[in-house]
Order: sequence, then C-alpha cells, then structure tokens
Amino acid sequence: MSDTIKKICVIGAGTMGAGIAAQVANAGVPVLLLDIVRDPADRNAVAAGAVAKMLKTDPAPFMSKAAAKLVETGNIEDDLARVAECDWIVEAIVERLDLKQQLYAKLEDVRRAGTAISSNTSTIPLGHLIEGRSEAFRRDFLITHFFNPPRYMRLLEIVSGPESHAALVARVSDFADRQLGKTIVVAKDTPGFIANRVGTFWIQAALNAAFELGLTVEEADAIAGKPMGVPKTGVFGLVDLVGIDLMPHLQKSLTETLPKGDAYQAISTIPPLIGKMIAEGYTGRKGKGGFYRLNREAGKRKE
Ligand code: NAI
Repeated sequence: MSDTIKKICVIGAGTMGAGIAAQVANAGVPVLLLDIVRDPADRNAVAAGAVAKMLKTDPAPFMSKAAAKLVETGNIEDDLARVAECDWIVEAIVERLDLKQQLYAKLEDVRRAGTAISSNTSTIPLGHLIEGRSEAFRRDFLITHFFNPPRYMRLLEIVSGPESHAALVARVSDFADRQLGKTIVVAKDTPGFIANRVGTFWIQAALNAAFELGLTVEEADAIAGKPMGVPKTGVFGLVDLVGIDLMPHLQKSLTETLPKGDAYQAISTIPPLIGKMIAEGYTGRKGKGGFYRLNREAGKRKE
C-alpha cells in the first residue's frame, strides 16, 4: 500500500471532475484527467477542453496557469492503464450506476491494489457501487463527495463501507484536509448521504412551487435565495450551476433507493420543461445556458 498521495487520476472531466482536477493541481499535486473519446480526430479533446475552461472561469480562473502544467489529459480507451501511476483515483463520471459499475470493472484489471479509489457520486450508496467487485477493490473504495464548485466549496462528504481499509480512508481524509483545505463530514451510506438527502428535497420542493405558482426565475430566486441561505444563486441559479441534465439522474437514483413511503417520493417529478431543455442543449452553465438564459431569450422575444 502506498502511504502518500503523490499523483491523482480524475476520471470524468465534466463540471465536477474538471473542478476537482483543477483544485488538486492548484495544491501542487500532478493530475491525470481522463474522459471519453467524443472526437476520433482529437482523442483527448474532452479533457483538454475541460482544462482550457478551468483557466477561463469567470470572475477568477479555477486553476492557475502554473497549476495547469501539472495536469496531463487523456482518454479512457487509450490511457486507462495509466491509473497505475496514481495513488488515488477519483471517479466523477455521469450519475448512472450502470456506467460507474462498468468503469469499475475495467479498473479492476489496471489499477494498483492498495491505492485509493473513490466516487464523487451525489446520491448512489457505496454498497450499490461496489456490487460484484473483488475484495481488494471493496477494501480500497470509498465515496468522496465534493461540492460545486470544488475551488470554493469547502465541504467534503466522505462515506466508507464496512470493508473499507481504515488507514486508506484516513490517508484520503488527511490529504483532503491538509492539501485541499476541505472540511470533512463523515456520512453514513444512505441514499443522498447528508447534503443531498436534504438538498435535493429542498430544490425539488422549491422548483415544484415555482412552477405551480407560475413564478419567474427572479421571483423564485428572490425568495429561495438569499433569505433561505443560498446567497449567490437562488434555486434556479443553483440548478443552472449544478447542471440541468443531472436532475433526472438524481431523481432516478433517489426514487430507486429511498423507501417507498419517503416524503421525497411524493414530490419528485421532473417538470416536462426540464426534459425539453436538456434535449435542446440548455443544460445550464456548462451548456447553452439554463433557466436564466431561457428567461432572457423569452424577454427579448416579448420586446
Ligand atoms: P458532467 O455531466 O458535467 O460530467 C460527466 C463527465 O463524465 C462528462 O465529461 C462525460 O463525458 C463523462 N462520461 C460520461 N459517460 C462516461 C462513461 N461511460 N465513462 C467515462 N466518462 C463518462 O457531470 P458532473 O455534474 O460533473 O457529475 C459527475 C459526478 O459528480 C456525478 O456522479 C454527479 O452526481 C456528481 N456531483 C455533481 C455535482 C454537480 O454540482 N454537478 C456536485 C457533486 C457531485
């Protein structure tokens, strides 16, 4: 077992993976950032594009130019075996149990036993993620749930399982605390852990009320914003930031894992507008824009 974390691999270079990689590099630690191949002519385009985005974030870049030199980019098809160079693999791919499990099966063959592997899942219990995995994999596995954006959000939820190796969990916690400046909360292995057990309920209830009452995004966010402790965005702004395409995945995961009579089950419908927005590329800040962009476009059409 390696005792120190000298290099990290982040798999999934989307909103969270890119942000986590940026923060690791800002701390002076080398990162290998991998994603899928979308363009056969430029096999590393997704991860490389994510790095470029981290250097351009507004108002301040999420990653310094010096830190960007510590990030190597690659793709899962060609470079997965390079995870063996790393002391911690952070999985941050799309919130789908089937895809995460398929990736873990591939990692079994190439990762170095005794090195940490964690998921950034928002909602999926650890017990489900490691179903079918080897004893060695289960021992090295934990959940490290970073918050968005990782550059500014200090909280890190850590979930370990009954088989997780205590020294390995301590090593990851220590690194996150000392080198990434995170405040660690240890959560139980339950759907949504702590933050999303509460947070997704609150977001869903606020969205439902806004649609039911026919509120504008500004009206909704004036209430479900600053007065309710979401000072920068409000509920619609938060969904734009988190990613609108994440919403149906969170809803599916929670409805499948929470008990039938749970209060969340009764309110968890995804408004049809959200499905339409995703289909048209309005996935929030990472896409063509989200509720705020649509709102501005609707305003212009009225003028
Ligand atoms: P995202 O959609 O922005 O990025 C996901 C990335 O995974 C994409 O770049 C995509 O190309 C890649 N990907 C998709 N399928 C893949 C596959 N089969 N194999 C490898 N890569 C694949 O998603 P986001 O929002 O960054 O979420 C990633 C994880 O982090 C999810 O588990 C999510 O629940 C969790 N999370 C998200 C937060 C948010 O605010 N967006 C906050 C905290 C956790």
